[in-house]
Amino acid sequence: MYRYEQLAALIITMIDNGALAPGARLPSVRTLSDQHGVSISTALQTCRMLEDREVIVARPRSGFYVAPKPRKVLALPSASRPRARASAVSISGAVAALLEHSSNPAFLPFGCAVPDGALLESKRLDLSLARAARQHGARYNVYGTPLGDPALRGEIAKRAMRVGHMLSPDEVVITSGCTEALTLALTSVAKPGDTIAVESPTYMGLLHTLEMLGLKAVELPTDPIRGIDVAAVARLLETERVAAFAIASSFNNPLGSMMAETDKRALLEVLGRYAIPFIEDDVYGDLYFGRERPKPFIALDGGANTIYCSSFSKSLAPGYRVGWIAADRRTRQVIERKLAFSLCGAVLPQVAIAEFLARGGYDAHLRRVRQLLQGTLARMADAVEASFPAETKMSRPAGGFVLWLELPKRFDSRALFDKALDQGICFAPGDVFSASRRFRNCLRLSAGHGWNERIEDGVRRLGQLAVALLAA
Ligand SMILES: Cc1ncc(COP(=O)(O)O)c(C=O)c1O
Repeated sequence: MYRYEQLAALIITMIDNGALAPGARLPSVRTLSDQHGVSISTALQTCRMLEDREVIVARPRSGFYVAPKPRKVLALPSASRPRARASAVSISGAVAALLEHSSNPAFLPFGCAVPDGALLESKRLDLSLARAARQHGARYNVYGTPLGDPALRGEIAKRAMRVGHMLSPDEVVITSGCTEALTLALTSVAKPGDTIAVESPTYMGLLHTLEMLGLKAVELPTDPIRGIDVAAVARLLETERVAAFAIASSFNNPLGSMMAETDKRALLEVLGRYAIPFIEDDVYGDLYFGRERPKPFIALDGGANTIYCSSFSKSLAPGYRVGWIAADRRTRQVIERKLAFSLCGAVLPQVAIAEFLARGGYDAHLRRVRQLLQGTLARMADAVEASFPAETKMSRPAGGFVLWLELPKRFDSRALFDKALDQGICFAPGDVFSASRRFRNCLRLSAGHGWNERIEDGVRRLGQLAVALLAA
């Protein structure tokens, strides 16, 4: 073999064994030459040959990248068509059982949509927390203000401005995760018996909260790529009384769908006609795969009737339980409720996150986390394609880290769930994502962890179980 062929064979091996993932940037021609002791022209000849074979692609002024993998592409899940009728929610038992299983470390972790601590690992955050406790432990061992740490509120307001949301730190209220933010928002705009419009499928925790607050849900037709059907919303509002909308800003859980900015504006315009409050949940907003972070709804309407909820749970520190809410003219109502529900949040985690943000480096952290999660998601999609029934349909998330699978109507994801638990595998069956318990033929897989043989084997075994179940 010539030197350039040897080097090409080495690069192909690295691609095959996953050391170089599809889309990864190759070292520069000069680095390849230095690392492998070949001349620049040999390194360039290697790259040209790999490019001719479509193993890598050249990007002008940027370098060579591993080509995206050609794959048999599974069809997209169908857009949902739920009944346009409000119904009571009864989901708490199923959600509690699922959370119990998915937090059990004995099971493979496809059940809970939370990133793995090892993957999020940020030594600098750990150091900030340790320093704050060591230096000022007594000062922070107090009841804080109900609004939360002022420095953290300032950092959150600064970041909001970067996506076009003009926010004053006085309008930010720190919460115990996005969960408390959603509860504060819902109780500020609705009373028991009222109806809340949600995506279909939607985040199971939101449905659980609706049930606990005695609120009804009306499910909206939702497309796996484009999100909510705005024309269907306009038709619904002609007949149904809806107290508020509670919708993901971007990357709905479980579909990973993303509404175009024009559709977001159109939805706000329809809601504006009926003066309906809009609660947006932006926990996945920073985990985008495109060129830039999608704008939240609140940046499009100035916040007049939008309540913004988010947290650091998906991108930095799920265990710190730090989230926030920006409720504009409803801030006073939110604070009253915050005082009643939890008085104030734990101070130390807030101080640590504030310092972490102020020191810079959160964007670099996010870039790393996005790349890792996107890599795991791509590999999980490959494993699903290779092992699940051929009729399986699969979402193509634009961000976040969950995959939604739809199987033929006769498929029962609850039966698969029981069989999978016997094999030490946990995932989320589809019916917990709907107030009317639709989607029993669907399931959600979380890809919030690193990729390794054990995980890959788990997805493949789950696929084989699904094949056997469908054939039975
Ligand atoms: C869409 C969505 N909102 C909110 C939450 C809860 O966030 P937190 O852990 O910050 O309470 C989750 C967690 O899975 C979620 O997926």
